[in-house]
Amino acid sequence: MGGSSEYRLFSVDDLLSNEVLQAGQATARGHHLGTRPDLDAAEMYLSREDGLLVRGVWPHSARKSWMVSRIIDVVSRAMTGKWGQLGYIELYSGPGRLLDRSTSKELPGSPVEALRLSTPFDRYVFCDFDEDCVTALRQRCDQEPMGSRSRVFQGDAKEIDHLERVARQFGRGTLVIAYLDPARPRDMTWHTVQTLANRLPTVDLIINLPVHSLQRAISGPHGRNAEAHAAGAFLGHPEPSDLMHWDRTHAHQPQGTMDAIRGFYDRQLQSLGFLPPARRIVEITPGVPYYDVLYASRHPLGVNLWNKANPPEPPPPSLLDGLDQLP
Ligand SMILES: C[S@@+](CC[C@H](N)C(=O)[O-])C[C@H]1O[C@@H](n2cnc3c(N)ncnc32)[C@H](O)[C@@H]1O
Repeated sequence: MGGSSEYRLFSVDDLLSNEVLQAGQATARGHHLGTRPDLDAAEMYLSREDGLLVRGVWPHSARKSWMVSRIIDVVSRAMTGKWGQLGYIELYSGPGRLLDRSTSKELPGSPVEALRLSTPFDRYVFCDFDEDCVTALRQRCDQEPMGSRSRVFQGDAKEIDHLERVARQFGRGTLVIAYLDPARPRDMTWHTVQTLANRLPTVDLIINLPVHSLQRAISGPHGRNAEAHAAGAFLGHPEPSDLMHWDRTHAHQPQGTMDAIRGFYDRQLQSLGFLPPARRIVEITPGVPYYDVLYASRHPLGVNLWNKANPPEPPPPSLLDGLDQLP
């Protein structure tokens, strides 16, 4: 493992107040293993329930998990019987169990949630590049009634051979849902998305687009260093600083830059034959976007199912609301 400061990019800890952090650290009572810089700087623990590795998360992760569980539940119920097979991929699986650091509660991770669907997929492929995550996840899958439908591979989602091996697990006529949940820009490249999309013509993608970290990497004080480079590789943009947005006084506008990142990524997906993706924004604190959860499909039904599973939120109340009811 390398030194954590060397590898640390922007963890959620950078965005939370000290009070929240202290409360979270005090209540997270699993056996604390600390951060894993080779992994993605997440805090890791040993589970109180099964003694295996768990990943520390903050409450915003619950919203992402909820949206992902909802869409895969809706897709599996709607599509079972309409396709030869239904397949499910996670390239960033984690250990299969999470610890909410603010409440100290343990929750199933996304792979385990996917195995527990009421209408399960026919075949699951879960991957992580971390050996300890893979070991823990294998043991957890073995405990699940649908575990025999799953394979757990250790592999780097940025490596073509690994992606080819994953794609080979699914025959023609399989509708595949692939969930890509990298914690940081440096954990994924545009090539990952491109390869999956090219190798699996009937894949729908659920992507965690870390807009906040991308924006900071592109516009931060170390604008031309490794982080900006990683952001460019993530987006498939040769000159990501071109996405920076400025106001008339030449001050940087982070919100405008995040919108430019979104627009660019949507166009990238469309260049692979996907329709404009559905998007839900997960905020770290009200008004501060942390990441977007995207659903990209080449078929309009995919986005329709997403909207059914995760209805867009009503716009925030406006001062004009209720004016028509005034006397
Ligand atoms: C955000 S966690 C996934 C959490 C999981 N979706 C859940 O909700 O339970 C991201 C995982 O990706 C793994 N990872 C990071 N970079 C990777 C890479 N290049 N290839 C494969 N796995 C990677 C990390 O080890 C970590 O376990």
